[in-house]
Amino acid sequence: MNKRIETLERKHRELFPDGGKPVIIAGPGRINIIGEHVDYAGGFVLPSAVDREILLAASLRKDNKLKLYSLDYNEGFEVDLDNLTFNVKKRWANYIMGVFFVCKEAGYKFTGANMVFGGNIPQGGGMSSSAALEVAVCYALRLLNGLKFSDIELVKLCQKAENRFVGVMCGIMDQFASAMSKAGNLLLLDCRNLDYKLIPADFTGIKIVLADTKKERTLAGSEFNLRREQVTKAAELLGKPLRNFSISEFEANKSKLDAVLQKRAKHVVYEIDRTMKAVEALKKNDMTTLGNLLYATHESLKTDYEVSCKELDIMVDIASKVKGVIGSRVMGGGFGGCTITLVKEGNVTELKEKLLKEYPVRSGKQTEVWVCNLADGMREMQI
Ligand code: GLA
Repeated sequence: MNKRIETLERKHRELFPDGGKPVIIAGPGRINIIGEHVDYAGGFVLPSAVDREILLAASLRKDNKLKLYSLDYNEGFEVDLDNLTFNVKKRWANYIMGVFFVCKEAGYKFTGANMVFGGNIPQGGGMSSSAALEVAVCYALRLLNGLKFSDIELVKLCQKAENRFVGVMCGIMDQFASAMSKAGNLLLLDCRNLDYKLIPADFTGIKIVLADTKKERTLAGSEFNLRREQVTKAAELLGKPLRNFSISEFEANKSKLDAVLQKRAKHVVYEIDRTMKAVEALKKNDMTTLGNLLYATHESLKTDYEVSCKELDIMVDIASKVKGVIGSRVMGGGFGGCTITLVKEGNVTELKEKLLKEYPVRSGKQTEVWVCNLADGMREMQI
């Protein structure tokens, strides 16, 4: 970590010799144990930040300029705060501009900033590097300008940046997890009103393994927005939010929906139920039940919600056959990205070896596999 901070500081000094000592902010990526594609339907989710993060060095400017540099892309970007517009070529810059844009719109007063950032969250890997960046930027903006908004307001601003500026109608789970997590816990978040509880997650003897399909998520934005519209439509036709349906009530009413909307709504209603069952299983340390719920979520995301793909299915299939694997499924938005697998500690090596060997043969793509630990959310790093 220190080495990464040193590199950031050096680059900041080199690019902005008059910028002074920057603040260093961490915005972590997230995993989600269960509760997928239900946040924008007001459902329950069970995510946490993990020990992979974006680190951002930021300093205040006296003028109105935003001067940005991405270490990972090795490129800079400069824009006037009065002229923030979506940039098709520098996609990474949009997440930062978006945060400034919505903060300005909300009436907060601030000046320009210098920002250098880099991360070790796989981009497009389904761990929400975009939310991590938004959260780190918003934290820096608040700190540097002495603004007083709450952490929850920060989360909402970051979601708005992605909805309104980047154009992806994401729910609030990613930004919430990246901002509010506490190491050693999962967040049980009620996305209807943002009430949340920390659920101690004692994964003693169990590891969380992520495997990247390396599949480009070309459909992710447009199909994601379409799913959200379908869920909204289904709720309208059924007369109340899907979150308010029990399974039996949904089954009694589902014929009011056409075949596609029935499948989408079914995923949401059953997934919320699975999430609550997962919390109970965790409380009892019943890992077998938890694992089966993960597999059921994968099946539902594949068959009813239709956000899986060949590569994700192959990944889950390989994992499911490894000794010690408790459960496995697509994580995050889908259409590529990564799978999350819970596995007994003693079988991690075997799982990694199987994935690294069999996935390329069956999919024609390479993969990367990581073990993740639950971590704190956004924070200022002391240097
Ligand atoms: C993406 C979105 C989240 C959530 C997940 C699916 O990560 O950004 O808001 O909808 O997909 O659970």
